[in-house]
Amino acid sequence: SIAYLNGEYLPLEEARISPLDRGFLFGDGIYEVIPYYAGKPVGLVAHIERMIDGLAAVEIQSKTTLEQWSALLNDLISRNGGAEKNLGVYVHVSRGADVKRFHAYPENVEPTVFCFTFDIKDPEPVDRTAVHAYTVTTAQDLRWRRCHIKSTALLGNVMHFQQGYASGNSECLLYNDKNELTEGSSVNAYIVKDGVVITPIQDNQILPGITRRIIIDSLKEEGSIKVEERTVTMDEVYAADEVWISSSSKEIAPVTQIDGKPVGDGTVGEVWEKAFRIYTDAKFT
Ligand code: PDD
Repeated sequence: SIAYLNGEYLPLEEARISPLDRGFLFGDGIYEVIPYYAGKPVGLVAHIERMIDGLAAVEIQSKTTLEQWSALLNDLISRNGGAEKNLGVYVHVSRGADVKRFHAYPENVEPTVFCFTFDIKDPEPVDRTAVHAYTVTTAQDLRWRRCHIKSTALLGNVMHFQQGYASGNSECLLYNDKNELTEGSSVNAYIVKDGVVITPIQDNQILPGITRRIIIDSLKEEGSIKVEERTVTMDEVYAADEVWISSSSKEIAPVTQIDGKPVGDGTVGEVWEKAFRIYTDAKFT
């Protein structure tokens, strides 16, 4: 596939960066993952805005504007034949390569900008009897306290994801030291109780997911399903009728097992199907 590196388009396997790049040495960078279905992006502006906010939060000096990012990503998608397939685009901006390894932010170093595309699956069917359901495990959230920043330093997330994966699950739901749900290692999390969708508030304990935003906004606008953003305890998670996870690659995905125990009656719920239809109708708008 064709990648983008520091102003140039080139075959992905030819892309090279310095081993002194701070993204490599310190995980000192910000990233995004944006889905494109048959050339149409989901939440493009919101993704770019989140990245620009993240870069400002860690003082990476990038002068690229929203319009320039959007043109660049759309261009990369079309160079990779995106009109005919479903592609995700990964965008990575690190603080750049200094001449030495020194913790302080260097001056006069150009950020490294790297983007590549990868295949993503077709959306799941809007059918509770046919959709792929996930099983998850749980763990105390041992990441840092700046989870709202989409940092490339993902070792904490990777270790939690691996906890789920090693035990035969596809995600790990996380809780803080007050036994409150935060999110999953690479997804936002939701419960459904008595028809109401409930998701943890957006603070420094979670990534402000773009899919989460589209879900909340589209459900509120459609109006037939009540949505609450509030603290969710793990007791509520275990007693929920439905549990969902969301991300740019999974959209809204139902969870039918937590730590080996069924969620609700162990099947994908009706609220999931209704919400996924509403989300699907709204996601490109
Ligand atoms: N993961 N929470 C975490 C910790 C995440 O890493 C992600 C996304 C999300 C969902 O955010 P969004 O809806 O904006 O994709 C929540 C991406 C896809 C990844 O790391 O591959």
